[in-house]
Amino acid sequence: MSLAVLYCRARSGIDAPLVTIEVHLANGLPALNIVGLPELAVRESKDRVRGALLNSQFEFPARRITINLAPADLPKEGARFDLPIALGILAASGQIPTTALTASEFVGELALSGELRPIAGALPVALAAAAANRPLVLPAANANEAALVGGARIYAAATLLEICGHLTGQAPLPPYRASINARGVAAPPQPDLAEVRGQQHAKRALEIAAAGNHSLLLSGPPGSGKSMLASRLPGLLPQLSEREALESASVRSISNLGFNAASWRRRPFRAPHHTASGVALAGGGSSPRPGEISLAHNGVLFLDELPEFDRRALEVLREPLERGEITISRAGRQALFPARFQLIAAMNPCPCGHLGDGEQQSCRCTPEQVARYRNRISGPLLDRIDMHVEVPRLAPAALAVAGANGGDDSARVRTRVQRCRELQHQRSGTLNSCLQGEQLRRFCQLGAPEERLLLSAMERLGLSARAFHRIQRLARTIADLDGREAISCADLGEAIGYRQLDRRR
Ligand SMILES: Nc1ncnc2c1ncn2[C@@H]1O[C@H](COP(=O)(O)OP(=O)(O)O)[C@@H](O)[C@H]1O
Ligand SMILES: [Mg+2]
Ligand SMILES: [Zn+2]
Repeated sequence: MSLAVLYCRARSGIDAPLVTIEVHLANGLPALNIVGLPELAVRESKDRVRGALLNSQFEFPARRITINLAPADLPKEGARFDLPIALGILAASGQIPTTALTASEFVGELALSGELRPIAGALPVALAAAAANRPLVLPAANANEAALVGGARIYAAATLLEICGHLTGQAPLPPYRASINARGVAAPPQPDLAEVRGQQHAKRALEIAAAGNHSLLLSGPPGSGKSMLASRLPGLLPQLSEREALESASVRSISNLGFNAASWRRRPFRAPHHTASGVALAGGGSSPRPGEISLAHNGVLFLDELPEFDRRALEVLREPLERGEITISRAGRQALFPARFQLIAAMNPCPCGHLGDGEQQSCRCTPEQVARYRNRISGPLLDRIDMHVEVPRLAPAALAVAGANGGDDSARVRTRVQRCRELQHQRSGTLNSCLQGEQLRRFCQLGAPEERLLLSAMERLGLSARAFHRIQRLARTIADLDGREAISCADLGEAIGYRQLDRRR
């Protein structure tokens, strides 16, 4: 038999579509051709495969070898096809059996020595192979990650020879069992809200934001605790479900960061620096990789020093903030990455940071400087932030008092948040921040006095139509936290109070 067929998987967004690899040996001048739109990395694979075969004491067939990767229109990159290509050549030349090869899937990069090197994105491959109900054979260094998938059948090996021993039946590999069951790993502890003293107003805002998945902007002088508060938001959200955790881990798996076994259960918290480019935030590259907004999928994106970010870089946030995903187009190729994150941002009130910071230091910024600083945040982005909250600096005395005065700890707040989220899901199947159109009218209905209040606030504060709906959704969450079905004037009043930056514009 001079034809062998094997299955492998490509990378497309966080999906891993099937690739069929056909290896055909024909008589003629010795040559190796790979067809099916392979990119540079696949072409380099020729040399690695040749080296790996020879160094594993196999014969490299002196025939015309044609390798077809199908479907041809699927972009293929990376060295993950090395292993199935090498096995295909061995099978087509009769050095290992061809039977039952298509019962499994194979991925892995080969070193010239015949050792297997880990690939990026093993988790999405394992998810797809398990869904297709086929065992997956991959490099040992990827095994722990792949074994997270419930129902996955994983065979892991360190070298090409080990896999050949498995396929010939001379030395079958045992099904891989994780040494520590990574699936059972608990989320590592998060910093606790009780460590933040005072700041009751900001903590209340953080709880509302967590409950309804509302975006939040903290404004206050340096050292007032904005970063401290922001980093405690993930700990107020419910535990990740297994599906969510696998999704987020898949994004990491295909990113430059790679999978992290210790923290895959933890809600992502990403805090890109304000010098981050649009590509770093949104994702990109010639073979698109996810950016910070996708690494924050199912978690929190913290943008510290918001006005310092490049305006054009921030523009990329608008689409994912509405749709929960981002499409990246590069040179005719498209990749879709999930990006459902909760946004929290922080800023100083003025360029020097001390505006309104009375006692200690006074602000020397001119009103024009303050206005210019705030206008660096684009109106449409500010419009999409549900809550604006001032975080004043605590007096040194308040910080120094011994004993706990931090209020509820994260676990207690998380219980309330969870209850509130369940209520929202029962009512509308989604969180309040996502209510749109008809749902918004149905579930955020206002009585006559409430409507009058909101309309007059709109007029007085010059709020946009978008802000109007944001206030409605926010008031819905405030009522829900209190377990009330009807939205009251007090709920609306509190929600309107979170639009401070609109007011000043
Ligand atoms: N409310 C607070 N309770 C406890 N510590 C605080 C509080 N506010 C500030 N701190 C202390 O000040 C430090 C700086 O706070 P940080 O969150 O970085 O401020 P900001 O981000 O507003 O500049 C924190 O690491 C913490 O030690
Ligand atoms: Mg800070
Ligand atoms: Zn100032």
